Amino acid sequence: MYSLARPFLFSLDAERAHGLGLSALDLAYRTGTTPLLAARIAPMPSTVFGLTFPNPVGLAAGLDKNGEHIDALFALGFGFVEIGTITPRPQAGNPQPRLFRLPAHNAIINRMGFNNDGAEAVLRRLVARAGGGGIVGVNVGANKDSEDRTADYVKLIETFAPVASYFTVNVSSPNTPGLRNLQQSAALDDLLARVIDTRERVRRNAGDSPVLLKIAPDLSLAELDDVVHVARSRRVDGMIVANTTLARPSTLREENRAKEQGGLSGRPLFRLSTRMVAETYVRVEGAFPLIGVGGIDSGGAALTKIRAGASLIQLYSSLVYKGVGLVDDIKRDLSSTLLRTGRDSLSEIVGADAATITAEDWPVR
Ligand code: FNR
Repeated sequence: MYSLARPFLFSLDAERAHGLGLSALDLAYRTGTTPLLAARIAPMPSTVFGLTFPNPVGLAAGLDKNGEHIDALFALGFGFVEIGTITPRPQAGNPQPRLFRLPAHNAIINRMGFNNDGAEAVLRRLVARAGGGGIVGVNVGANKDSEDRTADYVKLIETFAPVASYFTVNVSSPNTPGLRNLQQSAALDDLLARVIDTRERVRRNAGDSPVLLKIAPDLSLAELDDVVHVARSRRVDGMIVANTTLARPSTLREENRAKEQGGLSGRPLFRLSTRMVAETYVRVEGAFPLIGVGGIDSGGAALTKIRAGASLIQLYSSLVYKGVGLVDDIKRDLSSTLLRTGRDSLSEIVGADAATITAEDWPVR
């Protein structure tokens, strides 16, 4: 079905197509046509960060920035949905155009810049669907013009604690100048100390929300050493590896659009982000689980990410190229791999290839 709609959507400006795609999704949900897509697949529950996920395939942050499509997204079969990035105050983001498709490479470049409705409006939406079920992660970030970025994260944890299944502390968007500096040791230590403190302070009234740290795939291994050290000492509940990359692999050299500023996602990000999952996994030594994200566009790619060290996976860009039926395709492939190999749960293969992957040549940056 998506193969019919795709040429039309691809003839439009990327941001306009994005909006239309989401409207179509909402319409399908309201008229009850999405369940036709969601075929029955054996459940693959797993308990990660103390939460029980019905299946390991999640929606990555950035597609539903404002929490407007959560139920329609769950109807596609996602095991969890991450909304955001949300900032305390509403923000327009960068001027358009700021979203670019690279169809020959199944890739996207974006420099959206945290366009979002702000905490108050999104909170209202989440409160309205409270009890609606499903694991909904809230990805938080700082306003571009904020005087105290750490205080922004603290405020957002306080605000969303009653409704967030988990939090993602996003310090890895390349489109807010200076944000990635929060990955540096001293700044990260201060940020995580205050975030975890806040979570502990509000947990009695608001309940317990795991805190995950989302990192960039562009960290050097020495920087990754420091980030993992701080994350472990501050006892975060997990990490998400990784956000979009500022790198442009040599395969994109001929591609004019690759010169656009912003973060690259989709297939060209797969090898680098998978390498970073494995590098993170060997450094974490089981202290907490990882979510692997970047370029997953098939069951095989999902399995590779899991074997590199991811307990759960997320996707975004591949939905644009392959359509929303991909969610069930991936689940079906994972479930048949379990059957074929006689395993009870995917957790048995998490990280099985991490050591091998970290010994390979570095993927082309
Ligand atoms: C993103 N991503 C993202 N991540 C995040 O933490 N906060 C955000 O607001 C956004 N916004 C965003 C917008 C667009 C248009 C894209 C394509 C991506 C990054 C996303 O969550 C994910 O980490 C990367 O896209 C890599 O995964 P895929 O797309 O290769 O599956």
